[in-house]
Amino acid sequence: MPIQEVKMKAIREQLIKRLVKGEFLSGQALGEELGVSRAAISKHISALQEIGFDIFSVTGKGYRLANPIELLDESRITQLLIEQKTPAKVEVHNLIDSTNSYLMRRLPNQNIPGQVCIAEHQSAGRGRRGRQWISPFGSHIYLSMYWHLEQGMSAAMGLSVVAALAVSDAIKSLYSVDVELKWPNDIYFNGVKLAGILIDLEGQAMEPCHCVIGIGLNIKMPEKSAALVDQPWIDLSTALGVDIDRNVLAASIISALLTRLKVHSETGINTMVAQWQSQDFYYNKPVSLITGEKVTRGICRGINAQGALMLEVNGQVSPVYGGEVSLRVGI
Ligand code: BTN
Repeated sequence: MPIQEVKMKAIREQLIKRLVKGEFLSGQALGEELGVSRAAISKHISALQEIGFDIFSVTGKGYRLANPIELLDESRITQLLIEQKTPAKVEVHNLIDSTNSYLMRRLPNQNIPGQVCIAEHQSAGRGRRGRQWISPFGSHIYLSMYWHLEQGMSAAMGLSVVAALAVSDAIKSLYSVDVELKWPNDIYFNGVKLAGILIDLEGQAMEPCHCVIGIGLNIKMPEKSAALVDQPWIDLSTALGVDIDRNVLAASIISALLTRLKVHSETGINTMVAQWQSQDFYYNKPVSLITGEKVTRGICRGINAQGALMLEVNGQVSPVYGGEVSLRVGI
């Protein structure tokens, strides 16, 4: 990272630390403390507002957060994971480009299987098909886990199933509701997208490979960010009508993911197919499969033991592989 960017990040990290304490911060005093001008502080505050901070200023008093934020807490998540008997190495970052990219940059040997990176804000959050994943500060869960796939890339399709079911397990265990699953990588609530999964792979086709499983789960969408999201969405606090403790939910997702990944290493997704089917949003519904320019009409018959979509066309059911297909009801 260029030195200027490192300095900028350090100043913003300092401002965040101070702001979340809920005190009024004087621009003048902050500038003196951090070795920059008052005008520079004002620019940094504007930048923080841009990424989702609701900061207001009062003449003579300084800057303050409009509402308190409960930040993600590395030691609390780590402790919850120990209590759930699924310990893991967890890093929480305030500002990052992308939690997936961060873990990918650390390949081949700086990650241990099960290691997690979570962030409060991603400046270059990535969605599937080259889309941007809008990542306002302190609002949602942006979580990535490194995994080593002994079976090689051919088993990677099963990882989407594992990850989606892990998010489903966590939500079910904490809030007693079932989410809907949309092949290959989406989690829906009441027919609208609640979360997405992005899996990055590195390695040779037939050999063990490195994987980073990324999960973006909407928790409480700030008004400003809502306008930037280019697909219908819902967030969990609106869906359930409750406040969500992101630390508890993040720990629960990590724990469920570790548990399911262990099963996946031993027996693949055989034991998970039935549960997927029961929550599959499109199960037994007429669908259109869009691959590039090509549209295939059929009936969704769930998934097979590799995690491929089973599509019935003219009475014949065949597996559909490949991650970049779209599925639409009734087109
Ligand atoms: C999608 O539905 O398009 C997939 C979205 C995946 C977003 C998550 S947020 C954490 C991780 N880091 C990223 O840059 N992307 C994934």
